[in-house]
Amino acid sequence: MRCRYRSIRITCWTVSVRQPNLQSVTINADFQAAGIPTPTEQGSPRGRVLQVGPLMPMVQTTIVAEHNAVRVPDGPARQAFLDEHGSEFTVAVTSGKIGVDSALMAGLPNLLAVVNFGVGYDTTDVAQARSRGIQVSNTPDVLNDCVADTALALLLDVFRRTSTADRFVRRGAWQDGNFPLASKLSGKRIGIVGLGRIGTAIAQRLAGFNCAISYHNRNPVAGVEYRYVGSLTELAATSDALIIAAAGGADSVGLISAEVLAALGPQGYLVNIARGSVVDEAALVAALLSGDLGGAGLDVFEDEPNVPVALLALDNVVLLPHLASGTLETRTAMAELTLTNLNQFVSTGTLLTPIAGA
Ligand code: 8YV
Repeated sequence: MRCRYRSIRITCWTVSVRQPNLQSVTINADFQAAGIPTPTEQGSPRGRVLQVGPLMPMVQTTIVAEHNAVRVPDGPARQAFLDEHGSEFTVAVTSGKIGVDSALMAGLPNLLAVVNFGVGYDTTDVAQARSRGIQVSNTPDVLNDCVADTALALLLDVFRRTSTADRFVRRGAWQDGNFPLASKLSGKRIGIVGLGRIGTAIAQRLAGFNCAISYHNRNPVAGVEYRYVGSLTELAATSDALIIAAAGGADSVGLISAEVLAALGPQGYLVNIARGSVVDEAALVAALLSGDLGGAGLDVFEDEPNVPVALLALDNVVLLPHLASGTLETRTAMAELTLTNLNQFVSTGTLLTPIAGA
């Protein structure tokens, strides 16, 4: 068939089970086991849609029902699948957790768009996408409230030690005496690393706590009243807590270094609702173990779902399983925006919310 958006030729699904082609049989068995239509069951006249990784059930069901999406196998079966069918797909639907990495993108020579569930897209090879003219969308704005709410939940928890106090009550320790005094959050100096949409939503909430808000970005944000600090180390040294709201990806790896953590100091707290990769996790663990950092509230980790074992025993650390956007309302809105991007792409060749600079 001829693609409607670009003048590239895309082969139609061929017979997928060609005995004795063992690879095809194995691949289609994978599809059937997963309850996903096999390539031969495809019939959509629109762009061929590839599902990459698990998706929220509402998204997965819809892309299969409305776009005859096929899920790319994980593991060793992937390469054989790509060799046989990679050229047939024009759109990949994925999540920020999984993304379309370099090898997968390279195996999809006719890919035109990556539709990403999630605001973060650091798992997708954006450089390759740009160089090949592949469009990428994400789900901005709809999750600002919930991610900012989670940042505040973590901040309140590390200052007031509510999770620790909950454990104190549950183990019956209250019978033996009062819970130790904690720190006040209201009025404290809070540094925000990354004053984008989510960072701004966090700042708005902090204003209600009469906090003195400073921020660090590559450049000052025009028209913003908060104090801009060009040096991250200086921001840390002059803050009671740092909240990380910067995008993940190659540019921000290890931004919160041992030096920044040292500047935050034994009375300082770190909250991360961005990406684990933004913080030097080994340095963070070392600073928490040695008492050189006061505490941390973490929703994200370098190697999720693996959390550094040393943190599990620390009472001054709050650990969440990457749930910042995880409410029914917000995930539904993210799912709807994902599907809107997909539908718009297959009908017009454009995305509703392309990533910046795409
Ligand atoms: C998403 C997130 O739910 O949107 C993001 O960037 O971190 C999460 O809130 C997750 O990425 C989806 O996989």
